[in-house]
Amino acid sequence: MSLFPYLENLTPKSFETTWNSPSNIAFIKYWGKKGHQLPANPSLSMTLKECTSTTKVFFAPSDSLEVELFLEGIREDKFALKIKNYLLSLTDFPWLSRHSIRIETHNTFPHGTGIASSASGLSAFALCLTEYLFHLAPEKGDFFQTASFFSRLASGSACRSVYGGFTTWGKESDEYATPFEVHGDMKELKDTILVIDESEKKVSSTTGHGRMAEHFFAKARFDQARNHFGLMTSALQGGDFELMGEIMESEALSLHAMMMTSPTPYVLLKPNSLVAMEMIRAFRQETKLPLYFTLDAGPNLHLIYPQDQSHKIQTFIHHELSPLSLKVIEDERGEGPRKC
Ligand code: PMV
Repeated sequence: MSLFPYLENLTPKSFETTWNSPSNIAFIKYWGKKGHQLPANPSLSMTLKECTSTTKVFFAPSDSLEVELFLEGIREDKFALKIKNYLLSLTDFPWLSRHSIRIETHNTFPHGTGIASSASGLSAFALCLTEYLFHLAPEKGDFFQTASFFSRLASGSACRSVYGGFTTWGKESDEYATPFEVHGDMKELKDTILVIDESEKKVSSTTGHGRMAEHFFAKARFDQARNHFGLMTSALQGGDFELMGEIMESEALSLHAMMMTSPTPYVLLKPNSLVAMEMIRAFRQETKLPLYFTLDAGPNLHLIYPQDQSHKIQTFIHHELSPLSLKVIEDERGEGPRKC
């Protein structure tokens, strides 16, 4: 039985809804799974404001499962198949396979810029699905917890996007994410994204997670992540920027170190990723200003700093760092998804 027995046997109907949902950036990384899409270690992220997906879903009863998906108006059979396989994997909810589903989705950031669209796109889809389930079910639980659960089964990191501000996953529950309250000084954080390379990743995150299963350093990495998680939560609750930044950078480098030392090693960083990291550390030493970096599973840097010190930091980013990148995306802590 699933966590949501009252959603297990419902009758398909026609329904249509639209949600806008943001991407998120992990300060403590989820890298490695256990069981069915459960995290090997707790993670913590900040929900973004500008990098979002708006997704409209039409559900209609049908004898078999059919999914059509349009991204920026263009039919994308590859993504439609991913959603179809995801729905088929929800074996506790077999009635979901009796639908014809049409999805129309748009991103605020161009697809293929190296900004993960899976967290925003799949959480937006899961929010639409949850609204449909709640429309049909006579008994209901917590809406966002349910949406986080369904997001997680589509893409782990997506489960943290259903709440604004900061969220954790794998501490209170492995099944869904939970909002996390931070110190007042940590509430207005900026995230300037340096897009250093836009090409599609050579190795997908799914493959990367899989390689942790046989990884020589897996246990040490999961221990490190748990330790970092404790330090990061104290830093965020205590308003300690230096500790937050130190742990955040260590997490980013550990994530990439895991890729470089995995059974089949690979490198996603580019020369300019390393140049930018060196320059950030030199700038910090010289000015004592709190500018820190983190990375996703790719070469692009997320530059994290407090809004109230953004003037000098942004001058440095735009004059010194932006020539290393193809483009710069300005983002910041966001308030979470909204129904359109
Ligand atoms: O959600 P997935 O399966 O695409 O994994 C993403 C993992 C990282 O983005 C590298 C880290 C994280 O916690 O978001």
